[in-house]
Amino acid sequence: MCGIVGYLGSKNVKNILIDGLKELEYRGYDSAGIAVLENENFSLFKATGKLVNLEAKAKDFETSSFSMGIGHTRWATHGKPTELNAHPHVGVQTYIVHNGIIENYQEIKKELQEDGVTFISQTDTEVIVHLYEKKLKTIKDPFEAFKATLTELEGAYALLLITKGENSKIFFAKYGSPMIVGANENGEKFFASSDAPLIGHCEGVNYLNDGDYGYVDSDAITLYNKDHHKKDVSLSSLPTNKLSAQKEGFSFFMEKEIYEQHDVVADTLRGRIKNEKVVFEELADTFFDDINEIKICACGTSYHSALASSYLFERYAKVRTSVEIASEFRYKEPLLLKDTLFVVISQSGETADTLETLKMAKAAGLKTLVICNVDNSSMVRLADASILTRAGIEKSVASTKAFATQMVVLWMLALLNAQQRNSISKEELSKQIKTLLKVPATLVVKDELHEKLKRLSKRYLHGHGFFFIGRDVFFPLALEGALKLKEITYLHAEGYPSGEMKHGPIALADPELFTIALLPTNRLYEKTKSNVEELSARDSTICAISSREYDKADDFIKIEQSDHYMLEFFDMMIVVQLLSMEIAVRLGNDVDMPRNLAKSVTVE
Ligand code: F6R
Repeated sequence: MCGIVGYLGSKNVKNILIDGLKELEYRGYDSAGIAVLENENFSLFKATGKLVNLEAKAKDFETSSFSMGIGHTRWATHGKPTELNAHPHVGVQTYIVHNGIIENYQEIKKELQEDGVTFISQTDTEVIVHLYEKKLKTIKDPFEAFKATLTELEGAYALLLITKGENSKIFFAKYGSPMIVGANENGEKFFASSDAPLIGHCEGVNYLNDGDYGYVDSDAITLYNKDHHKKDVSLSSLPTNKLSAQKEGFSFFMEKEIYEQHDVVADTLRGRIKNEKVVFEELADTFFDDINEIKICACGTSYHSALASSYLFERYAKVRTSVEIASEFRYKEPLLLKDTLFVVISQSGETADTLETLKMAKAAGLKTLVICNVDNSSMVRLADASILTRAGIEKSVASTKAFATQMVVLWMLALLNAQQRNSISKEELSKQIKTLLKVPATLVVKDELHEKLKRLSKRYLHGHGFFFIGRDVFFPLALEGALKLKEITYLHAEGYPSGEMKHGPIALADPELFTIALLPTNRLYEKTKSNVEELSARDSTICAISSREYDKADDFIKIEQSDHYMLEFFDMMIVVQLLSMEIAVRLGNDVDMPRNLAKSVTVE
């Protein structure tokens, strides 16, 4: 979830690039950089932190004649947020910015190192620039060398490349990550990862398709498709509102983040599954040696993903796993045994209670791991190992895509553990991996579903409360559904294990009690159904979410039929997120910034 900009023309390049990057800061920022080529001279500026740091570094730099430049704001996925890892990356005479993940970068890097190339960053991106320069040695034509480079890249990319041999051309390519090219009648050309930086500059833009590549100069945009056929470039008009452009056409950041879950989960999986096995390059092969137990601490939504994962760790890796709310764990005088792997989960990496539990575990000499969305955060710096969730910046206070990416990382971690302990058969592992790879497609929001939830939401604005119920991993999902609803609708909601209702809460059942029943067909369907029937018999209003029609429900939300409960999990997750959001919209609440809440809770 980085942001890219590019410009070719006679205006002051630096201003256009930095202003453009400011519009993309919502996509993530831990470092940024620009490279400019003017009269055969390159200038490069990079800085960590917010864009003001880059602005300060480049404050005395200006271009005064025709020139071109590329810029990037980074959200770290490979390598720390340092200046060396910031883009643009440089070879001998070439600069590149890249958004996406190159899955086979290690293979390419190894080959290049054998040829004597020295790498200065830890990024996957740096391989592209060196690979390009290697190609250039044999294929003298710079654009042909660029084409040959693209054929070797696996993964996702939106990239811009400028090189000294071609002083008036920017090369571009897009596959799996967004990029737009724009033009105006002055011959200026622009690139950006989304509309916002282009508004006010371009007369028309082309939203590039996967596999598109080409180059721009002041005369034209030259565009080829994935089959290497030259395409006519049709330009369409841009939206006019920058804030809405930042939200990429969605009404709220929360909505945008729900819709982009399929992309960020695909990024989170990228390069981590090889030959039907889970691979985390962040973890040494011996990482789980001598570990007999796993303890996970987290707060809020991250606690819910932790709780769901405990079912997967015990089920597949056969390792004892317990989960604790960080604020409780701190003061319970917990037993911390050395053969326990201590895991913390945090979107921000800064939550005070979770951070404190990590310190306690470190002090007790336990091996520690953090699953986090922000590289260089306090937890990432402190833990022995870290796995990044690659969700990109999460703007909405109510967490959605962070949860989805945590869930896939935790599921993969359970499978990695199972692989290493030989606690899972080859066939089962292969089935699970195939299922994991289907998650991004499951997360694509279907129009009919969203429309249905919009309509349905009007029936859930009153009443004296909501119960979200489920069994197994659907119990933590019920907790998460209830939390989402509470946070943004301010309605009372609880998550409960469905089998627990008859031990007390069912006393609340009446028509004004809304039960949101998570009824997966691939896990304990009959058991959960009986619990729902107990509530229906007591006249609670039931909204059932299932792939199997259920006639005892007042409302029914159909999800896709699938052959694995984890796919149902992700399908239902989308439903509970969108349902909460639509109820909040009808109530007129501030969806992205609900009352009384902050995005990062750095106090106890
Ligand atoms: C809920 C939400 C919070 C956070 C919690 C932990 O939508 O965002 O419950 O999950 O404050 O935050 P992190 O994951 O940053 O430690």
